[in-house]
Amino acid sequence: MHYFQYQAGELYCEEVPLARIAQEVGTPVYVYSERTLERHVRVFDEALQSVPHLICYAVKANSNINILRRFVAWGTGFDIVSGGELFRVLRAGGSAEKVIFAGVGKTSDEIRYALDTNILFFNVESSAELELIHSIARDGGKKARISIRANPDVDPRTHPYISTGMQKHKFGVSLPEARALYRNTRGLSNVEVVGVQCHLGSQITEMGPFEEALASLRQFILELKSDDVALKYLDFGGGLGISYSTEEPPSPAVYGETVARATKDLGLTIVLEPGRVIAGNAGILLARVLLKKNQGTKKFLIVDSGMNDLIRPALYGSHHQLWPVREQAGKQLETVDVVGPVCESADFIAKDREVALLEPGELLAIMSAGAYGFSLSSNYNSRPRVAEVLVTGKTYQVIRRRETYEDLVRLEESQN
Ligand code: LLP
Repeated sequence: MHYFQYQAGELYCEEVPLARIAQEVGTPVYVYSERTLERHVRVFDEALQSVPHLICYAVKANSNINILRRFVAWGTGFDIVSGGELFRVLRAGGSAEKVIFAGVGKTSDEIRYALDTNILFFNVESSAELELIHSIARDGGKKARISIRANPDVDPRTHPYISTGMQKHKFGVSLPEARALYRNTRGLSNVEVVGVQCHLGSQITEMGPFEEALASLRQFILELKSDDVALKYLDFGGGLGISYSTEEPPSPAVYGETVARATKDLGLTIVLEPGRVIAGNAGILLARVLLKKNQGTKKFLIVDSGMNDLIRPALYGSHHQLWPVREQAGKQLETVDVVGPVCESADFIAKDREVALLEPGELLAIMSAGAYGFSLSSNYNSRPRVAEVLVTGKTYQVIRRRETYEDLVRLEESQN
């Protein structure tokens, strides 16, 4: 569900015509709908109503500070994976008490930073990391709250690059090892065990993998109980998928109900770390057609946004719907490769896709780009990163200005 829709043949974000944003801010530009973001947060929150819970938005999905400020106002916590993300959350006015910190390679500086700001807990991903956190906490005279990221060896049936919950992945620790680690924490005076965490992967579009993981976590938590390990939190990670094309992922309500049902009697606070399901369909990348080109039997539609702006098609072969900003009266279609200006053949948005017949100068909305769009963008080919705009009802705000050529060299020249 999102608030990008046609009105009298023109594509709008909420009540603002996208053509107006393109004209005033330029293209390419990421456009987000505040109403959609808020709705997704509320729906997710309501889905967990029957159990004590904390929603920790996964900052990596979209980390613009102005968007994080909205999340602070809506009361969410934050799932972070770096010191930089912690800095963003705090700068946005977020409270460290609602921050959880995952990642297999946290540095000593990042651990210290998180301890100094007193985050809710660390999601620990190895025994070596547990020792590191303990020694840093001891040196600083602090107590680190931790949960262990359990790897339940469940196939999330998603793209291999975004699967994380199987033995072959670098994430978390196997259940038997995790059990031993919990026992070992008894000897670690500067560590307080508060929970268990599990994140299976991303863009998961069926309940099966979640149900399987919940069943093994349940069993695992009961075993911990018998070991006298008392927990407060069960952090079930993120991963709920969205519809990019024909997928029909479970709704947040179905997902929330399943999580609540499987965990209710454990008496724990449920933490969830949704990213994509909150931000994905709340944003688009707005691009302009530069040129058309035929090569043999191929037709190319060359647009002004490249793989540096949106890398998902190149990296995961992912599908993004392409909507013309001016709804075509005749609805004439043509089959094209939609490509950008970057000097790589991986620089495509869609291949052999039937899209509306567009001419140079016309605008194209690359849908479902609100998560892992801008946050994965780069300056490759010395392309300034694009602007970001947040629409609220009838108004919009530039929440990140377009980079300039000066911005490209600023950090390099200051070294002289
Ligand atoms: N928690 C942890 C520990 C994670 O690693 C992730 C995502 C999330 C939560 C949020 O997952 P979500 O609810 O968004 O599925 N760049 C890829 C996605 C990478 C996901 C990385 N971790 C993409 O564009 O599809």
